[in-house]
Amino acid sequence: MVKAFGLVGDDPRAARVTQLDLLFMLGGFAPAGPLAAPRELTELISAQSARFRSLDPHLSYELLIDVNCEEYRRCGDIRVFSPGQLGTLERDFYLGHYLSEPWIRSAAYGLRALITAPDAVKPVAVLDDAARCVAEFTSHMASYRRLSGEAFGRFRHFHMGHPGGPRGASGAFMPSVQLLELALLPPTTEYGSYLDLAMSYFPTWSRPVVAQWRSASSLGMNVWQSVRDGRLVLDGAGAERLVQLIDRFVDFRMVHLGITRRMLPEAFPDRTGLTRREIGAQAGERGVLNAEHPGTSGFSVRDVLTNAVHRLLELRREVLSSASAPANQ
Ligand code: HEM
Repeated sequence: MVKAFGLVGDDPRAARVTQLDLLFMLGGFAPAGPLAAPRELTELISAQSARFRSLDPHLSYELLIDVNCEEYRRCGDIRVFSPGQLGTLERDFYLGHYLSEPWIRSAAYGLRALITAPDAVKPVAVLDDAARCVAEFTSHMASYRRLSGEAFGRFRHFHMGHPGGPRGASGAFMPSVQLLELALLPPTTEYGSYLDLAMSYFPTWSRPVVAQWRSASSLGMNVWQSVRDGRLVLDGAGAERLVQLIDRFVDFRMVHLGITRRMLPEAFPDRTGLTRREIGAQAGERGVLNAEHPGTSGFSVRDVLTNAVHRLLELRREVLSSASAPANQ
């Protein structure tokens, strides 16, 4: 598992891979408790983190997914915790996140063009393309339906943080899904709390981008506010495509919710209120810090996933009701 340590030298790529290896070694001690790792190892990790300030001192989404999979692309090596066939499933779980993210990132950046330069692009084409990218993203993610809950459970505990420690490596810290949401609609208060707490767990490149898109979105630089303010004019076909895009985004979140319910039934002791219709009808968002069933990310699994669907269904309702409202109102 461990490659030769480049603890000397200033090559940032080698430093990232070394940090990944050190944190994989540390993760190997996780089942024995947070204090089981040898002091020399934790000191090495602290020294590397102090030396390369941009390195996460814990096994973050960026290290586990992005750095690990970039290394796999570069030389065919990937770090996994599990041996044998389970290791192949674990590898594919990491690669699945890495290879699918560009689809949703492309949708997010397409919308960004629609917001910043609405006259330079064709809205129907941009919205169509974004919906197609989100559907591709969903079909990659949906292939994890085939992963058994038993297999997932065997490597998942290596990704979990421990009480009082940093949050674990979770899809909740994949930035492009959040960029797409910020490009579509303004952040709600509850979503803002999630972003505040998630910010330092997103990959380094994305932190200033998420912060900038969030503040722009709050100030009206999002697709929905642009339509309402008349900066972005959508004809009937354009409004239809906007609803279609929202539907594809809801599909992603509902399929993902279905997979998560099957894999982590303990996080959903109350089986009611989880259909699209019920989530749409729920009275607002719930507190994501409800600590009864925290997931890898440390947020309440049920609430973070259902809130995310709820916000999109609220947007869908607003878009449809404004399309059916008489003009000049
Ligand atoms: C075995 C399959 C999977 C399970 C059981 C699972 C589980 C979870 C859980 C429990 C959360 C809530 C946060 C947390 O507690 O960690 C979450 C969030 C998330 N996951 Fe997954 N996940 C799976 C696969 C994937 C894949 C393959 C992707 C993307 C390609 C993905 C993307 C996301 C995103 C974007 C979020 C944040 C919520 C949102 O914005 O919709 N997940 N996941």
